[in-house]
Amino acid sequence: MVNFTVEDQEGNRQDCEAPDDMGFNLMEILKAYEYPILATCGGMALCGTCHIEILEGKDELGEATDPELDQLENLPEYFPTSRLACQIRIGDVLDGSVIKLRGEDQ
Ligand code: FES
Repeated sequence: MVNFTVEDQEGNRQDCEAPDDMGFNLMEILKAYEYPILATCGGMALCGTCHIEILEGKDELGEATDPELDQLENLPEYFPTSRLACQIRIGDVLDGSVIKLRGEDQ
């Protein structure tokens, strides 16, 4: 299991955990926790609704991929710490990180 913290649009934090051996991505886990993420593209890095910011742990998670960056640049605002949750595979590197939801509150 991987443990990390999620901060919602109101600034409330919750500790979350996810299995690291089932191939889930972070968007799927956030939806499982019933965070309001539309994920209209189904995790193809095309809709941008799973926009998050990595508040802690960015170095471990590495840089965004090119398709991910293309989509982030189309958003009304994005940050150097921005990522698309659907492009982050659940794994050890996520352990201990803090994630802030940035997608529009649907
Ligand atoms: S779910 Fe559409 S970009 Fe991540």
